[in-house]
Amino acid sequence: MNDTEIASFRRLCISLAREAGQLALDGRRTEMARGTNNLGTNTKSSATDLVTRYDQASESWIRDRLSQERPDDGVLGEEGTNIASRSGLHWIIDPIDGTTNFVYGYPAWGPSVAVAQGDTVIAGAVHIPMTGETFHAGLGLGAAQDDDPISVNDPQELSSVLIATGFGYDAEHRGVQGRRVASLLPSVRDVRRSGSAAYDLCSVACGRVDAYFEDRLNVWDIAAGLLIALEAGAVANSLDGGPPAAESILVSTPGVHASLLRLLAETNH
Ligand code: IPD
Ligand code: CA
Ligand code: CA
Repeated sequence: MNDTEIASFRRLCISLAREAGQLALDGRRTEMARGTNNLGTNTKSSATDLVTRYDQASESWIRDRLSQERPDDGVLGEEGTNIASRSGLHWIIDPIDGTTNFVYGYPAWGPSVAVAQGDTVIAGAVHIPMTGETFHAGLGLGAAQDDDPISVNDPQELSSVLIATGFGYDAEHRGVQGRRVASLLPSVRDVRRSGSAAYDLCSVACGRVDAYFEDRLNVWDIAAGLLIALEAGAVANSLDGGPPAAESILVSTPGVHASLLRLLAETNH
């Protein structure tokens, strides 16, 4: 695929993420203005794993638009969309990453939209409606926040690394994740937990944090954000040094990546 084609997929990712995000934001505002606060919230895998009618509305809206504009492409979405590809391309959608934030009105939430050719993500966008920011990238074309190119920070010492992480919805595994963070904490500058893996990856890309790690994610959490971070100059692995994957991921600025991998290996028990 050439750069012009990748750029055009990037524009479609941006448009889908922005418009689906606006739909969810408008819905939230309407509910708040009515004073009912009724987002149609339910639980999924555990009492802490939330879904709202706006997660579903955002995903259906993206799926419908793709069925008009890219009828032969596959679509995988968190809220159940699973359409096989006839073109070799498929879309990977998290209609709202950071649903807990959406419910509470904490700003780090938004749609994550990526498109892949085979196993390679070629374009992606993450839109954060409450701040109006869109992060996006095309393979080989760099990363940007709205109209401005972005790149990672360049810390060289672990002690100056601001690191983001997240916690899944399985109570027992949260204990493991919490202990991992506790053992890292004395060695780094500080830790942030935004509540959106997609936003965390974009935060590495634009220098709001220096690194991000998490495990037991799903592909829709990272598809767009990982490309954005890599195109901004980050490096990525699994927590044990293999290829990065939703199951296990560390994304960081190059100067501290090896030290972070070593530190995580020491604390990964
Ligand atoms: C979650 C967020 C969160 C991460 C969880 C994800 P959701 O996605 O990305 O930051 O820690 O592991 O499941 O449920 O809000 O789409
Ligand atoms: Ca998610
Ligand atoms: Ca989600």
